[in-house]
Amino acid sequence: TTNHLRHVESMATMPSGAGNIPHLNAIILGEALASEENDLIFPSDDFSRQAHVPSPQKYLEMYKRSIEDPAGFWSDFASDFFWKQRWGEQVYFENLDVSKGDIRIEWFKGGLTNICYNCLDRNVEAGLGDRIALYWEGNEPCLDGSLTYNQLLQNACQLANYLKDIGVKKGDAVVVYLPMLMELPITMLACARIGAVHSVVFAGFSVESLAQRVVDCKPKVVITCNAVKRGSKVIHLKDIVDAALVESAKSGVCVDVCLTYENESALKRGSTKWEEGRDIWWQDVIPKYPTTCAVEWVDAEDPLFLLYTSGSTGKPKGVLHTTGGYMVYTATTFKYAFDYKPSDIYWCTADCGWITGHSYVTYGPLLNGATVVIYEGAPNYPDPGRCWDIVDKYKVTIFYTAPTLVRSLMRDGDEYVKRYSRKSLRVLGSVGEPINPSAWRWFFNVVGDSRCPISDTWWQTETGGFMMTPLPGAWPQKPGSATFPFFGVQAVIVDEKGVEIEGECSGYLCIKSSWPGAFRTLYGDHERYETTYFKPFSGYYFSGDGCSRDKDGYHWLTGRVDDVINVSGHRIGTAEVESALVSHPQCAEAAVVGVEHEVKGQGIYAFVTLVDGVPYSEDLRKSLILIVRKQIGAFAAPDRIHWAPGLPKTRSGKIMRRILRKIASKQLDELGDTSTLADPNVVDQLIALADT
Ligand code: PRX
Repeated sequence: TTNHLRHVESMATMPSGAGNIPHLNAIILGEALASEENDLIFPSDDFSRQAHVPSPQKYLEMYKRSIEDPAGFWSDFASDFFWKQRWGEQVYFENLDVSKGDIRIEWFKGGLTNICYNCLDRNVEAGLGDRIALYWEGNEPCLDGSLTYNQLLQNACQLANYLKDIGVKKGDAVVVYLPMLMELPITMLACARIGAVHSVVFAGFSVESLAQRVVDCKPKVVITCNAVKRGSKVIHLKDIVDAALVESAKSGVCVDVCLTYENESALKRGSTKWEEGRDIWWQDVIPKYPTTCAVEWVDAEDPLFLLYTSGSTGKPKGVLHTTGGYMVYTATTFKYAFDYKPSDIYWCTADCGWITGHSYVTYGPLLNGATVVIYEGAPNYPDPGRCWDIVDKYKVTIFYTAPTLVRSLMRDGDEYVKRYSRKSLRVLGSVGEPINPSAWRWFFNVVGDSRCPISDTWWQTETGGFMMTPLPGAWPQKPGSATFPFFGVQAVIVDEKGVEIEGECSGYLCIKSSWPGAFRTLYGDHERYETTYFKPFSGYYFSGDGCSRDKDGYHWLTGRVDDVINVSGHRIGTAEVESALVSHPQCAEAAVVGVEHEVKGQGIYAFVTLVDGVPYSEDLRKSLILIVRKQIGAFAAPDRIHWAPGLPKTRSGKIMRRILRKIASKQLDELGDTSTLADPNVVDQLIALADT
């Protein structure tokens, strides 16, 4: 076809020198891509022609510059923003090698800026004041709202003035426990405006998880709402906050103010429990404040936010992002990965409680002056056609979601999709977990009517922004591959010894050298930052993911290689679930593994050993699941409890998870060598109990 030929021709005329970038050799060769066995999906000519990056050639030129001259490359993008004072002579500093001293990454240090100013004031000054910044769609199809850039700025200023008034200063933490109301991005922006550090906690986390995060960062104020409706369920968020604040007080952390938004459609204020002196209704105070607020200019390396994520030990990690590099990186990745144009209407289904909502609901899009749709409710409420209803209602052009939602809607059948036109769509996006080729095809063929490229973006809470992603007009896609690294990202695959491997291979995905959006530390635990991410493979950032590269240089993420599981795109540490389970008085020991799940990607499979003499029962199974829901949140509830008289351990007492994974996935002929177990009989016992 013509597209096909056009791409192959442009590949044949690659600039010389591009061959120095090893993972792109196949693109350069061109013939590899043209070969018939390749399952390639080409962007249409029309799409490529209008794209920011219309060809592999253009990508290579830009990529090459980004690697050879990171300072120049990123300074150019940074110059699009307002800096009260330009950064110093040294654009960036990095040490990713523990043998050379402390790990340190800095971008644009010495520069003074403000991300709220750049999201709002700058766009208003550029004449976008009347453009819609946020469209809000309520859980109930009849409820909606919107804010222009002018209005969003005024709202953020009012809250910023209030926060200053109650004594929140630059560098202070603010904990936010809000659902997808416009007040959530408003709060993030208000904090950023005054240099306060927001710590948004996903409003599906439990009392204990929220309390733990409050204790860790000691905020003066917690911002929440009284309740939210998701589907037909009302969730009383304020009750969860109340209980969490009782918990945190036990650890000596007392919060002075609980600012509560009255989410009237879910619950009237009269039915909300109240603590006089501490609790304040948002609607009673915020509208009284002035709608302008001076900006606190902060150093590019001043902290912007904290966001907790799971690791392989029990305690969540407070990932810390700073201001300047994160700003430049989220804005640039957003623009290129989605081929963003001012005429776009963008909808990302993620919640602002996760990194995707930070970088690609709030900051990245608003920095680009985009119109963003946010949705309060459940994606299949009142029926599985809701997403496409929203797409048609707002004429969404870029739709960004997670594979788990794609798989679940795919199961509900094509009729729900076909009922709606979806003709506004032009780019689709996927994030959070590997997207399996069949879900990819359904997303492409059915949702996108085979005309919208899919940006399968690989990245992490830690990376701040996209690390590997298709650039939708640049090159052919392969269903399920995140394709190639973004500008400035030197993605390498290493073997167990940390040696880079070239060509077709698989191994551990690492990043060589820093990028502006990288996290700078784990809050209060720089040592854990170094140990977890920089010590496993000396000189590299280790992602924790496995990856393979095919003969054409395309990358395929294969999932976590550590004790982290990915359930519906949510990261959960096996150790966190285990520690919740063993806190049950009748549980002696627990071992948790991930197991393939048709919709969620991975499900949580827990092997549980009971205290001597306690019998197995359905009630006990339920109460074990409940304790995990209570301690972490409903999304971490085990899918399966497998009774275990004993766990397979080595003679030194280490649990052999490899064997548990095989039992959980019923691959009994692949158990491997069990002779090194302290008691090989436990394996047979476990197999015998598999169906109980
Ligand atoms: O395993 C990878 C998976 O999600 C992990 C990061 O989780 P989190 O920090 O919660 O951030 C999720 C949103 C960025 C990664 O280590 N992951 C994320 N995106 C992809 C992915 N795996 C495969 N393909 C992706 N596109």
